[in-house]
Amino acid sequence: MVVRKLGDGVYSVGAIHWDRRLFDELIPLPDGTSYNAYLVRGSERTALIDAVDPTKARELIDNLKGLGVKEIDYIISNHAEQDHSGAIPDVLRAFPGARVVTNPKCKEMLMQLLLIPEGEFMTVVDGEEVSLGDRTLKFIYAPWVHWPETMLTYLEEDGILFTCDLFGSHLATSDLYATDEERVYEAAKRYYAEIMMPFRATIRRHLEKIKGFRLEMIATSHGPIYNEPDFILKAYGDWVSDYVKNEVVIAYVSMHGSTGKMVDYFIDALIERGITAKPFNLTKTDIGELAMALVDAATIVIGSPTVLAGPHPSALYATYLASALRPKLRYASVISSYGWGERAIEYLKGMLTHLKAEVLEPVVAMGHPKEGDFKALDRLADEILKRHQEDALVRK
Ligand code: FEO
Repeated sequence: MVVRKLGDGVYSVGAIHWDRRLFDELIPLPDGTSYNAYLVRGSERTALIDAVDPTKARELIDNLKGLGVKEIDYIISNHAEQDHSGAIPDVLRAFPGARVVTNPKCKEMLMQLLLIPEGEFMTVVDGEEVSLGDRTLKFIYAPWVHWPETMLTYLEEDGILFTCDLFGSHLATSDLYATDEERVYEAAKRYYAEIMMPFRATIRRHLEKIKGFRLEMIATSHGPIYNEPDFILKAYGDWVSDYVKNEVVIAYVSMHGSTGKMVDYFIDALIERGITAKPFNLTKTDIGELAMALVDAATIVIGSPTVLAGPHPSALYATYLASALRPKLRYASVISSYGWGERAIEYLKGMLTHLKAEVLEPVVAMGHPKEGDFKALDRLADEILKRHQEDALVRK
């Protein structure tokens, strides 16, 4: 049980999940996570901003009781996903007078996901304010970060923006604030890559929308709070921009070493040309690391042998994941070797078209790569260098 004070009448009352290692049965959590919830006491009314994952409901209720909270008037739900809303039914049982305040879309989802009765809700429109007495909560619609119902809540008098997932980081830490900026930057970038990257264009609009707000703090619902918000606003500004770096991500798998030899040669060819190579052996890779590398890279190259009649399933998975995350990639290609039948390239080239990147001529070797194959890899590296040099969106 950890309750921490952010300011007069404003408390962090959520839970830290130190040993959670997987989210959505998909996303690795090497550093655990937290489900931050906040209590705001006004002179007349009290609000809880977001709840916690249902596994931590008891901890949230204990935190509220520990603070001496007798009544909650409003439970603000910024996002219907269960890591923030799952404990709302428990809070309603513990504080029966409370009403769930959210937008109509989120209300509909909470009714479907958590079976909360319609009579428990109060809906708000974009820009609407709710008074707690001497304090005011303003609701800002911010859909698609990363669900359609997401919104932000702004505590006007204190200049605190409660953003739920937006700007968050899966990071379990004792630090209330983002004091270890290097560590938080990495965790926030990983979070952006895995969760927010597909919604880059929408997030850019939301960043514009909050520009005029006085921001003393950004209090997210995962990871530490930003008491110097410029740090994360600047990082997000960079990640959602159209600019990419002179980097090539090589996501590869090799069965008997031939694709591996091609990848090794290709990495050296890139380095010789002054291009940063970021190889990921898909048999060992944490997909979060791969996603992070895709935030900035100009180019992706998939390396795969042929298995039966198509690509290695790990290469298919990585290509599918890269397409789903919709990174800013400008160029893509494939390196492949095969034993007796070559079909991997066609599969992978087809999937790469979803990336909206220009697909450069792949390199295919039969068995062990030979002189002609190494020359083809040099040509691919030359082609990437030329594209990177001529492309105004690739930062030099
Ligand atoms: Fe942290 Fe989209 O839930």
